[in-house]
Amino acid sequence: MDNTLPIDNSPSMSRRQLLNFLTGAAVATTAGVVLYPAAKYVTPVKEGADDGSIIAKDKLGNPIPASQILAEPPGTRALIAGLAGEPTYLTLLEGGNLDSRGIVNNCTHLGCTFPWNGNDGQFQCPCHGSRFAPDGSVERGPANRPLKLVQVAVLGDRIWISPWQGVDPRTGETPWWT
Ligand code: FES
Repeated sequence: MDNTLPIDNSPSMSRRQLLNFLTGAAVATTAGVVLYPAAKYVTPVKEGADDGSIIAKDKLGNPIPASQILAEPPGTRALIAGLAGEPTYLTLLEGGNLDSRGIVNNCTHLGCTFPWNGNDGQFQCPCHGSRFAPDGSVERGPANRPLKLVQVAVLGDRIWISPWQGVDPRTGETPWWT
């Protein structure tokens, strides 16, 4: 009679599960170590964070995918809801990027909104005839101040709008709106 016990070289089910768990945990930890700093870098902490940034939205309050705006041809002015819901123009540049300057659609004369006239290359206010250059500087009154600017940044598929920092590049002076 053979009373030797079979030698089981294969790990038991529980050992296998433990090994799978440990392997999975190691992979997850490694991925976390590698990806967390990258995700933190490209993802702002939260909307309305300390710097006042918000995500660009449409008029219904839905975030606008950056890819949707970036698919437009160069020269396009895309109107979005910006800081405090202010309608703000974003400009598509050659090369498929967004201008880092957004122009607030609020005439500095008496506050009318205005369209972009691509043929004339101007923002033209219908209320009293003010004209603004593509960068928002005044080309014709009665408005006598350049249009308000905001900062624009694309992070992933989101467009972030934040308050303007520093001097007004059109005047070289402190912005009138700060
Ligand atoms: Fe724009 Fe008067 S409000 S020109």
